[in-house]
Amino acid sequence: MAKAEALRGELKVQGSKNAVLPMMAAALLTCEDVVLHNCPDISDVSKMITVLKALGGKVKREKDTVIIRVDRINDIAVNESFAGDFRASILFLGALIGRTGHVRISYPGGCKIGKRPIDIHLSALEALGVKICDDDNMVSAKGHITGTEVVLRYPSVGATENIILASVCADNIVRIIGAARDPEVSSLCELLNSMGADIEGIGGHVLTIRGVRRLHGTEFQVPGDRIVAGTYALAAIATGGSIRITGLKGCDLAGQYTALSQTGAKMLFKGNTWYIESIQKPMAVRYLKTGPFPEFPTDLQSPILAAMLKAKGNCFIKETVYPDRFNIVKELKKMGADISVDKNTVLVNGVESINPGNLVATELRGAAGLVIAGLEAEGESFISGIQYLKRGYEDICRDLNCLGARVSIMDKR
Ligand code: EPU
Repeated sequence: MAKAEALRGELKVQGSKNAVLPMMAAALLTCEDVVLHNCPDISDVSKMITVLKALGGKVKREKDTVIIRVDRINDIAVNESFAGDFRASILFLGALIGRTGHVRISYPGGCKIGKRPIDIHLSALEALGVKICDDDNMVSAKGHITGTEVVLRYPSVGATENIILASVCADNIVRIIGAARDPEVSSLCELLNSMGADIEGIGGHVLTIRGVRRLHGTEFQVPGDRIVAGTYALAAIATGGSIRITGLKGCDLAGQYTALSQTGAKMLFKGNTWYIESIQKPMAVRYLKTGPFPEFPTDLQSPILAAMLKAKGNCFIKETVYPDRFNIVKELKKMGADISVDKNTVLVNGVESINPGNLVATELRGAAGLVIAGLEAEGESFISGIQYLKRGYEDICRDLNCLGARVSIMDKR
């Protein structure tokens, strides 16, 4: 990839990865068609399709529409060859409990960004009456939801989604206290309500789910991806550009909007469009702490770190969600960045220029951060490990090039 001039222009953002994955698991809860529009073409979606088919579902993809029909369940096991590869596989735990009251599932894999246990998922389902047994690296869960209230010790996104999936067809009312408030949890609830579920308190810390007898099919628009949008906004800020990103909901940007405006960029959100007009050299965001929504998203920590490399001043970032998520620092230092890490904090001192480099990506959002760093460098940079990008970015080259960058994927020779 080559250094970009300031990014300019307009881009429609892809559908959200973290919204569509639980929606695809939710399709297991009905025998009828679930039609998802604006579905991103990313590898995590393909993996979800593979598992749905293995469980007995029929899945069709027509451009950005995915149609899922699971009129029969053939299997209740999600083994390691499927689950070991991606974190969202854990959502089949709640969905299969909801549909059949029985599941055997391997521990989920996913990006290497620190420890990612599933204890909150398991203890919550257990508290709600599901029998959990852990053997041979597989979790076996049996029974339907009978409990009425669960308190989460941390607002885990995946655990909240699993409880919802397991509870929407329960015989009783379930209250989740301390639920994650992320927009992706809200869109899952909206999808389920459009299928006949009865979920109240959407967007809040307390969700009330009144179990219904059955769910029907639906047609639903996957919302725009707030993390992809934030990545491109940061690429514009890092290069002193001016862009518009369409296809978003303003409220989804909580946490990132204020932080990004501290770079001196002028920002406006109108209709479904985010306008970002940055200044030539961004000001450093002095202090940033990642946290559960509506705090600054951990998934934008690497991209903002990269966007701060040439900023005016010092930027201090504290990572509270995945304390070890600083894999890209070593790569950024190769480029002449002035960064120091201390436990779960990082301090970036803005420098005058960044050198191009041969960089190695080891996970999705870190890879996106390296792309931003490459855009800031004085010359061509090469990044390996770009398969990680495909997990969440439909086509980062297409998107950045449409904003004036020069980024391409080279054939492996
Ligand atoms: N946690 C536990 N026990 C659990 C579950 C979570 O200790 O049982 C801890 C995790 O270790 C982590 C924190 O709680 O420290 C947050 O984890 P959470 O469960 O909220 O995350 P997740 O559901 O596994 C989703 C996204 C992630 C995103 C996080 C936080 C999906 C498929 N993934 O993961 O997205 O970082 O929420 O917002 O929705 C990404 O897109 O790059 C990505 C990693």
